[in-house]
Amino acid sequence: MTDHVTHVTHPLVQHKLTLMRQQDTSTAVFRQLLREISQLLAYEVTRGLPMTTRLIDTPLEPMEAPVIDGKKLALVSILRAGNGLLDGVLELIPSARVGFVGLYRDEATLKPVQYYFKVPTELEDRLVIAVDPMLATGNSSVAAIDLLKEAGAKNIRFLCLLAAPEGIKRMQDAHPDVPIVTAAIDSHLNEKGYIVPGLGDAGDRMFGTK
Ligand code: URA
Repeated sequence: MTDHVTHVTHPLVQHKLTLMRQQDTSTAVFRQLLREISQLLAYEVTRGLPMTTRLIDTPLEPMEAPVIDGKKLALVSILRAGNGLLDGVLELIPSARVGFVGLYRDEATLKPVQYYFKVPTELEDRLVIAVDPMLATGNSSVAAIDLLKEAGAKNIRFLCLLAAPEGIKRMQDAHPDVPIVTAAIDSHLNEKGYIVPGLGDAGDRMFGTK
């Protein structure tokens, strides 16, 4: 894979992901693991943020200490499964601004249609991290990034849990400027657009729906 895809191979991430994939993992445990893994992935997706220094007083003496530079970053959840990743990332970056993009698939055209869009102001000055656990066909991810760019976002990263090669290609073709961070790159998509071997329907598994 190219530099634009970061595959997070850390043992904690891989172990937790294996537990999440197992079909007999309960909704409660799935949700807890997703929260934990989201925090580990948040650590990776924020790597290399611009830094500055601030003059602080330690108990011993003043020092110029490092802090993250720039405006508060924006986390954008692609509904509904994105919310599962969002919660954990927000625990690590509590001051982040939060947006939501809702898309459904038109069964006639198979194209994503927007039903909800609410994002923080001054998107052009923020790092925007779009979150969606499953990068499958890439259609909804590409459409969500299109909308974020139309709203002014210039510096976007995409965070997911599982990616299919088809989805990665689609994203890289449409948005080569958007780095992808993922915990796994699986084999392929099946005829219904599910990632194989995958973990099933991420929304159903995290919310206990069917
Ligand atoms: N969305 C899911 O929830 N699971 C997949 O495997 C693909 C898309």
